Amino acid sequence: MGQAWGVADPDSTLITGIGELVTNDGENGAYAALTDAALVISGGRIGWTGRAARAPAADAVVDVAGRAVLPGFADSHAHLVFAGERSAEFAARMAGRPYRAGGILVTVEATRAAPDAVLRANLRRLAAEMLGQGTTTFECKSGYGLTVPDEARGLVLAAEVTPEVTYLGAHVVPPEFAADPAGYLDLVCGPMLAACAPHARWIDVFCEDGAFGADEAAAVLAAGRAAGLAARVHANQLGPGPGVQVAAQAGAASADHCTFLTDADVDALASTPVVATLLPGAEFGCRQPFPDARRLLDAGVTLALATDCNPGSSFTSSMPFCIALAVREMRMTTEEAVWAATAGGARALRRDDIGHLGVGARADLILLDAPSHAYLAYRPGVPLITAVWQAGRLVAGSPPSVP
Ligand code: NIG
Ligand code: FE
Repeated sequence: MGQAWGVADPDSTLITGIGELVTNDGENGAYAALTDAALVISGGRIGWTGRAARAPAADAVVDVAGRAVLPGFADSHAHLVFAGERSAEFAARMAGRPYRAGGILVTVEATRAAPDAVLRANLRRLAAEMLGQGTTTFECKSGYGLTVPDEARGLVLAAEVTPEVTYLGAHVVPPEFAADPAGYLDLVCGPMLAACAPHARWIDVFCEDGAFGADEAAAVLAAGRAAGLAARVHANQLGPGPGVQVAAQAGAASADHCTFLTDADVDALASTPVVATLLPGAEFGCRQPFPDARRLLDAGVTLALATDCNPGSSFTSSMPFCIALAVREMRMTTEEAVWAATAGGARALRRDDIGHLGVGARADLILLDAPSHAYLAYRPGVPLITAVWQAGRLVAGSPPSVP
């Protein structure tokens, strides 16, 4: 095999010698994988997949010597526009203090005070960190500005790095509205929404005690819908509550967290197209019980896994870490966890061009320095992502050693 690395913009690239190729192109997009496989990237998309022995010719060839290739991760829940950090709060939690959503206001204060350049640099650093760990698509929320100009600038900055931008003015009620939460809701659904909607695709609300109740959350999502934004919800994170039902009634793409669910909540998720996005980094970072993924899978709920990357509850940008937690702590199989981190995330973002490696998909893929996807959980904490392609372009990592 020729050594293709460094070939400038070849028309097509054959990646061969793939020990395990996870395609997620089973029936209805189910998990599927091939051994002794190859794939062709052409025009930024997947042109062909199959057995290496039957691979067609291509302009350039890369032999990955038995390593595994997977779709790039789709991280469908992240809060990356912020300044400051809260390691002391984390340390206090580990010493026994409970997580309270109030810590969000510490980040709001730091974010409001930060110049654009500081927010942009932090955002880009986190985006690069994600890419290097195999995340080729990520969602990014506002929610640490909570004024009209601060929310709008958060979304403008987010849109510089991803198309999956989410308006989260309804994160918590900021201190200047503490005595007038209804006034803040009017702002979120009125002038703030008008300023933010042009820069976003999604609207989100933190439906939880201490944040927004069922009626308020439903009002936020309805206003967002009228402004052209599709819904997602922070639901049932810190205790039982109405979030999942609000998400189901609003036709949300996803209900996120889903840590404390009643049987009726599980039924609502199973009987609607709402994806349940599980965020085990938050349970890890808040020393909370993990959501019961097995219960949801057995009920037929579609699951996504995401990082919830934020400076408070879950300061990880690593999808491999979330996969390892999901397998070890949430009773998911390695295949289920990888599917949820790729195809599941794509569904939570209503995207059919990513999350799988079927012919025609965007050529977002990762190469593991390991022979199978299972190593993501089997070797937790080890940097196994050797190379990352986005739309067919090598964007992170270094070449595999050619035997
Ligand atoms: O998803 N739940 C609300 N928002 C974030 C936490 C944000 C923070 O603590 O700063 C979450 O966990
Ligand atoms: Fe979150």
